[in-house]
Amino acid sequence: MYSDKIKYVGCDDADLDLFESQYDLPEGMCYNSYLLFADKIAVMDAVDPRKQQEWLTHLALSLDGRKPDYLVVHHMEPDHSGSMNAFLETYPETVVVASKQAFQLMNQFGICAANTLVIKEGDELPLGGLTLRFIAAPMIHWPEVMMTYVPEEKTLFSADAFGKFGVYNADADDWACEARRYYFNICGKYGQAVTKVMEKAAKLDIQTIAPLHGPVLDGDKLADAIRLYNIWCRYDVETEGILVAYASIHGNTRHAAETLAQMLRQRGCPKVAITDLTRDDMAEAIEDAFRMNKMVLCCATYDMDIFPPMHLFLHELGQKLYQKRTVGILENGSWAPQAARVIKTSLQSMKDITIVEPIVSIKSSLHDSDLPALEALADAMMQ
Ligand code: FEO
Repeated sequence: MYSDKIKYVGCDDADLDLFESQYDLPEGMCYNSYLLFADKIAVMDAVDPRKQQEWLTHLALSLDGRKPDYLVVHHMEPDHSGSMNAFLETYPETVVVASKQAFQLMNQFGICAANTLVIKEGDELPLGGLTLRFIAAPMIHWPEVMMTYVPEEKTLFSADAFGKFGVYNADADDWACEARRYYFNICGKYGQAVTKVMEKAAKLDIQTIAPLHGPVLDGDKLADAIRLYNIWCRYDVETEGILVAYASIHGNTRHAAETLAQMLRQRGCPKVAITDLTRDDMAEAIEDAFRMNKMVLCCATYDMDIFPPMHLFLHELGQKLYQKRTVGILENGSWAPQAARVIKTSLQSMKDITIVEPIVSIKSSLHDSDLPALEALADAMMQ
């Protein structure tokens, strides 16, 4: 219970390896659900079907024989809606409260709600002691998403926004690390939509944010989370620094990337991160690219193109609307280096990307004769 009237009934999923079948989960995941107790009782969201039975048990224990009047559905992705049918079999009288588009998605997912209430931006649902005030939050990160503000508790139920990877109590003192990886990979494409919701939220007196993943936020943690979201949603720079991202086949491009990273450190770059796109977590590389203001891409030529892990990285950056950044390029190729050309073309399709000169081209491995060009790139990246 985090207030007299709001109780947490969500579930940890410590054994899940990948979220959405693609994002590494070193510390599992949680699916948040809340019970609101007023004259009427509302359940705020269901959970992933992997935890359906545990969730129904949490509900039964907390309800202590009472029946929920409403199930509010903020988001229809199956990590939240997947246990709705089991809930509705257990509590068939419950009125399902959701946006019009959410009900369309329920049909598509084969979820059968007998009692329904369609809500939209600005609607209110009084529970008798608590009020649910609905806020449209389309594309955070699906189009049907709603949020709910409860003025009596100064609490915003924020759907996926302000969520993070990890079980509920993971990284208790470092919300930002896994929240940032979650944000840029899952919501990054929708910065404009997130910005609109942040502007709506700024008009509310919010003391608590209750997301669908990760911990409930209040106090200093809430203030810092809002500060970071206002940076992230606008694609602004959070940390001055340079990400060196390399895709190396036999280690020679890696050696060049590591040499460049060392030159940047020697020049006093405030933060240098280096990532191996063939082995490290791609989602973390994406996160670091958005976090910092500069990046150097180091890539081997492959089939007269770029080595596939760099393709994937550039594709993901493009999908997430990577923009407003400065990028350097180092290519490697044994007989016809092509990586710089392909990388440059990809970067030119993104918004407000400054490509740094010189572009460094090496043949097979880094030679002493390449060092002046590498030094020149390091100097240019520091300007
Ligand atoms: Fe947590 Fe978009 O689902």
